[in-house]
Amino acid sequence: MLTQEQNDELTQVGPGTPMGTLLRNYWYPVAITRELEDFPVKKARLLGEDWAVYKLPNPGPDGRPAYGIVDERCPHRGASMVYGMVEDDGIRCGYHGWKFDQDGTCVEILAEPDSSPKFREQCGIKSGEAQELGGLIWAYVGDGPAPELPRYSAYVMEGIRDIGHSFLPCNWLQIMENAVDPYHVESLHGMYFEFLAHHKNFEMPSAFKSNKHEKIGFDVFEHGIVKRRLLVGQDEESDDWKIGHPLVFPYKMWVGGNGVYQMQIRVPVDDTTTWMLFYSVHNPDGIDVPEQAHAVDYEYEWIDDKGNYIVDYIEGQDIMAWVTQGDIVDRTREKITKSDIGVVTLRKMFREAMDDAAAGKDPVAVVREPHDDIVLPLERDKFGRGAEFATQWIDRGSMRYSPQADDLKKLHLEAAANRGDASDKF
Ligand code: FES
Ligand SMILES: [Fe+2]
Repeated sequence: MLTQEQNDELTQVGPGTPMGTLLRNYWYPVAITRELEDFPVKKARLLGEDWAVYKLPNPGPDGRPAYGIVDERCPHRGASMVYGMVEDDGIRCGYHGWKFDQDGTCVEILAEPDSSPKFREQCGIKSGEAQELGGLIWAYVGDGPAPELPRYSAYVMEGIRDIGHSFLPCNWLQIMENAVDPYHVESLHGMYFEFLAHHKNFEMPSAFKSNKHEKIGFDVFEHGIVKRRLLVGQDEESDDWKIGHPLVFPYKMWVGGNGVYQMQIRVPVDDTTTWMLFYSVHNPDGIDVPEQAHAVDYEYEWIDDKGNYIVDYIEGQDIMAWVTQGDIVDRTREKITKSDIGVVTLRKMFREAMDDAAAGKDPVAVVREPHDDIVLPLERDKFGRGAEFATQWIDRGSMRYSPQADDLKKLHLEAAANRGDASDKF
């Protein structure tokens, strides 16, 4: 149980708050790359602030496409920069044509071509940095020199990219607490799935049946917290225990195995909205995956037209739990117990990271060293279930909303056949 003050501190992400100060040390996705190819300016809300993110028409000095991000509010008289015009070297407000470069400096006032540089110096717009990686546009809106954008394998590995995303009406932290909560798999994705399948007459995915936990474990490491589980019937050499998978501090989880790798990205849009992305890469052993020109992106559904949660798929069940906890879960009324040890570990990690950020130190998982790839621990044989895990996850996961779902399943089935897997494993 927390006090109201502790709960506020952990959940408020706006400027000047302790958590907001911490979270401004990291990069966040703010758009899908494709969106800025379709149209070069887009609104983005991040950490309680509104921004206009844009793509410049020409590549930057490194030869890669160049992007910028500025405060949505024009410093002249407040019109939205989302309705601005992108030019070769910056963005111009649509209302009276004030122009700002990528650093946010006001470089031209249309109606006053001879305005003094001294005056324009006071007219800059707040800006951040933006970059493309892995089919997403990422932004850094904190102070000081931006750290490296961490190139976790998900964003750079070979494979077919599939990005399901939707906005959820709840605080991002309750989603993160779910990432260190192994027991919910047994109930929510096991017993509840079975209950529902029985009453609604469908077949539940066998990979999620009877996953009874014998024990759980957590290890803090330089990118977050590794989560381990030992299921009844497994020994300590099983991937789920020996390797586990990580919560990636402060707003992601890396999960998967059996040829599907997924970064779950929980972008804190504001205190009560999270942009929840299921960023999957399909690359099963036993097959050459075809080249993909563009990551496929789509919105997954989580609520039906009567306002009921869609709970007949795995992530839909999670979303039901996250959103029904309330827009910001009231942690003054919770009953934390032994099995919530992962949640306690995470809150402590946030507490320490907030202290580091407040003291001006780089908090955990801020990466300053240039690098090609960051490989995170991840079990390969999830729940010991082979390829059936991959195909069932597509059928009964948010990937079922993907326009390429059938092709993805075909890929996994062909790969399993090429590997010679026993047919009851897929
Ligand atoms: S409000 Fe943007 S130029 Fe006037
Ligand atoms: Fe879950």
